[in-house]
Amino acid sequence: MSSNLVLGVESSCDELAAAVVRDGKEVLSSAVQGQENLHRPYGGVVPELASRDHVRRISEVVLRALAAAGIDESELSGVAVTAGPGLIGALLVGVCFAKGLAYRLGIPCVGVHHLEGHLAAAELVEPGLVPPYVGLVVSGGHTALYRATQGGAFVLLGETRDDAVGEAFDKVAKLLGLSYPGGPAVARAAERGDPEAVALPRPLASSEGLDFSYSGLKTAVALEVERRQPLSERDVTDLAASFEAAATDVLVLRAQRALLRERLVQLAVVGGVAANRRLRRELSRAGEAGGFRAVFPPPELCTDNAVMIAAAGARKLARGERHALGFSAFSRVPLGDSPWAAEPG
Ligand code: KG4
Ligand code: ZN
Repeated sequence: MSSNLVLGVESSCDELAAAVVRDGKEVLSSAVQGQENLHRPYGGVVPELASRDHVRRISEVVLRALAAAGIDESELSGVAVTAGPGLIGALLVGVCFAKGLAYRLGIPCVGVHHLEGHLAAAELVEPGLVPPYVGLVVSGGHTALYRATQGGAFVLLGETRDDAVGEAFDKVAKLLGLSYPGGPAVARAAERGDPEAVALPRPLASSEGLDFSYSGLKTAVALEVERRQPLSERDVTDLAASFEAAATDVLVLRAQRALLRERLVQLAVVGGVAANRRLRRELSRAGEAGGFRAVFPPPELCTDNAVMIAAAGARKLARGERHALGFSAFSRVPLGDSPWAAEPG
């Protein structure tokens, strides 16, 4: 059987990534170009700067992925690209490039939902993870629980009513004067702090549903920061640790409840915040005690990357999905919808 090589392209936010995956499961290469230095002076992602930088670098990043895989572009059997959700300008750079490349090579191009990509990363690293399972998606833009069904659909079980958990990490980093990007900086500071030092709320923890809320927790941290001015180093590490504990406790509680309700014993934890060590430790512990298995991609496949897009795209291509080259990018689109696939071929 000849091998099936899919190029993945991801440009939905501040990471520009390209990767080659063989037969939907073997990672041949993964190139990720971050933009930390570009956005650091602003303390957050500036969309126009992100897309302009993607335009400048996309050829180089794709060439890097092909070279690292040791293949020529003529060997590719398909191209998969994130079509949404994300920053529209940034998404368009990847989508236009992917379509142009596929057209030139005469191979199919498929658009992939960014969150389907994140979940595909867990299935890629753990072949035993097959639907039905519960997916906990925790990133800078999303905090949600899904039931992944045997038919390949995703049923939303609960989501954040306000901020995403990654967004809360980023905002707390700013409040504490930590460097950008915020999530990893808070996690590093938290390792030196006491998670019980500051009593912080666990929003919605006692409510019945499966929704999340992070804006109240962020406000509670803001009030503590104000009260303790000027912040000592101890304040910073204790506040970081206490925030991290509150933010992750709620994720653990909600994931456990979703598994019980859905009568499932497999949990995929994906997205940038799934790289968080405390969350990984606490969910693994809860799994051992509660009889479920938590699967996490390695940290480099939790944050945005193109391996996950290539893996999800390879599955679509294997099912015969082909998207007309007129498809566009969508900044907001629920998981499970793929408006780009509906265009006439
Ligand atoms: O999935 P991702 O790379 O991009 C989005 O799709 O949003 O997630 C990025 C988010 C950011 O908010 C970042 O602060 C957070 O993931 N993050 C972390 C850690 N690493 C990244 N949050 C907590 N702990 C980490 N170690
Ligand atoms: Zn993401």
